[in-house]
Amino acid sequence: MHDDIDRILYTDDDIQNRIRALARDINEAYPSGDLVLLGVLSGSLLFLADLARALDRHVIVDFIAVSSYEGGTQSTGVVRLLKDLSVNIEGKDVLLVEDIIDTGLTINYLIENLTTRHPRSLAVCALLDKAEARKAPVPIRFTGFTVPNEFLVGYGLDYQQRYRNLPYVGILKPRVFQPAGS
Ligand code: PRP
Repeated sequence: MHDDIDRILYTDDDIQNRIRALARDINEAYPSGDLVLLGVLSGSLLFLADLARALDRHVIVDFIAVSSYEGGTQSTGVVRLLKDLSVNIEGKDVLLVEDIIDTGLTINYLIENLTTRHPRSLAVCALLDKAEARKAPVPIRFTGFTVPNEFLVGYGLDYQQRYRNLPYVGILKPRVFQPAGS
């Protein structure tokens, strides 16, 4: 385990098992038609890659990039669109793929923005749901795990762009984001 990690919440095996179950639910929910897996960069990268491989159907993969945390540990509430999607989603089933839903501000911004493009359906798939931190309700159709209100890193989640490549989800030691004396 990395020295900056207090404890591991979900191991690589836990995550892969949950993804297989989510993929079964998604296969059933979308038996036919175009399904766009729309990953929200950068956090969803690992989750989307594993979810896409677990699905037993054709998918279109695309990405959108927004930022709301600006390198800190608290959401600023201000969502900026950094990269728009590349495919036309009109008339298609779209599954927004997120690593974590925290305050819900980012995903609500995206739902509002994408709805104007007239997808056939728009739903949210989040690996982690930090429900306690919610500032606005979010309709999450597919949830991996409901997590405590701790600062989590790994499996796509970062602190100041680090730790995304850890194969597990862990709780960051407070000393990493609260240096001694602060
Ligand atoms: C994280 C995460 C979600 C968002 C959730 O992204 O990937 O997109 O925050 O927080 P919210 O529910 O409070 O809006 P971040 O802005 O940190 O960018 P990143 O994915 O590049 O790490």
